[in-house]
Amino acid sequence: MTFFFSFFLLPLMLILCPPSTPGSAWSCPSECVCRQDGQVNCSGRALHSVPRILDPSIQVLLLDHNHMDFLPPGAFTLLSRLLSLELQANGLQRIHVHAFWGLRVLKSLDLSANTLQALEPGTFQPLQALHTLSLAGNRLMRLEPTWLGPLPLLQSLNLQDNLLSSMGSGVLDRLPALLVLNLHGNPWVCDCTISSLCRWLHRHTHLVPGAESLLCVSPDRLTLRPMAAITEASFNYCAQPLTPWDLVVITMLGPVSFLASLAGCFIFGSLITTFQARRKNRSVWCHQVKRPIPQTLGLVDPPKNPTTNFPTLSCSL
Ligand SMILES: *[C@@H]1O[C@H](CO)[C@@H](O)[C@H](O)[C@H]1NC(C)=O
Repeated sequence: MTFFFSFFLLPLMLILCPPSTPGSAWSCPSECVCRQDGQVNCSGRALHSVPRILDPSIQVLLLDHNHMDFLPPGAFTLLSRLLSLELQANGLQRIHVHAFWGLRVLKSLDLSANTLQALEPGTFQPLQALHTLSLAGNRLMRLEPTWLGPLPLLQSLNLQDNLLSSMGSGVLDRLPALLVLNLHGNPWVCDCTISSLCRWLHRHTHLVPGAESLLCVSPDRLTLRPMAAITEASFNYCAQPLTPWDLVVITMLGPVSFLASLAGCFIFGSLITTFQARRKNRSVWCHQVKRPIPQTLGLVDPPKNPTTNFPTLSCSL
């Protein structure tokens, strides 16, 4: 019985009910420093992958300043009590859509100072408790609504120093609890694509620190104009959503233009045939008229006789 307990039941119990005090039964990864309060510090250890962290009770994981350019699926699956994850300055280029699976109570995620250009839709889906997200200092050129949200509890989003030129309203609509949004250091292009962000800014200026100093980099006429100063009326020229009548016109355009081009070809073909037939008739006629000319040349002075001159000129066409 003792044998059964120590070799089978005890490990099973440890897996099912892990001890609540960190460090008591789980070993600390050799490359990290584990503290009793649940913090595991693996910062700046030249790591290329997430260490196999055995203790599921840790609450803070510092993985910043390493060399992890990719986060694989299930990289943190066992860390169901993790509250804070720091991944800044890793040269991260890609995050697998299932990398954050299992981080049910995570409140703070720092992905700043990496080289992310895009995110896969649904990457942050498991992080339903997230309060703070930083994507500052990456290379994001755009943000799709499905890349971030829905994140019902997100209060702080940092998008500073990316390459964002526009952002659809759908992105922010999926973050209903937002209190702070940092948008500085992006090359905003103030054309029609930015209209929904401008509209959102007018209504939520208080959520964006320094909103009045967000500047447009283009188009020329709006360069260095503060985004918040662009009135909604400036976007009146932008296309409205399509009406059912527009859709009918667009749908009919294909068949109608096909029929029109068929008719055009038919008319053009008939014209060419008619023209050729007339030309043939005329050349037969010209032959008959031309013949007597050399004979008349010797007798009559040609410039003084317009009737003999006329058919020669028109037939040369
Ligand atoms: C984590 O460890 C690094 C290197 O040992 C140290 O510089 C840093 O201050 C630690 N971070 C915290 C929050 O303890």
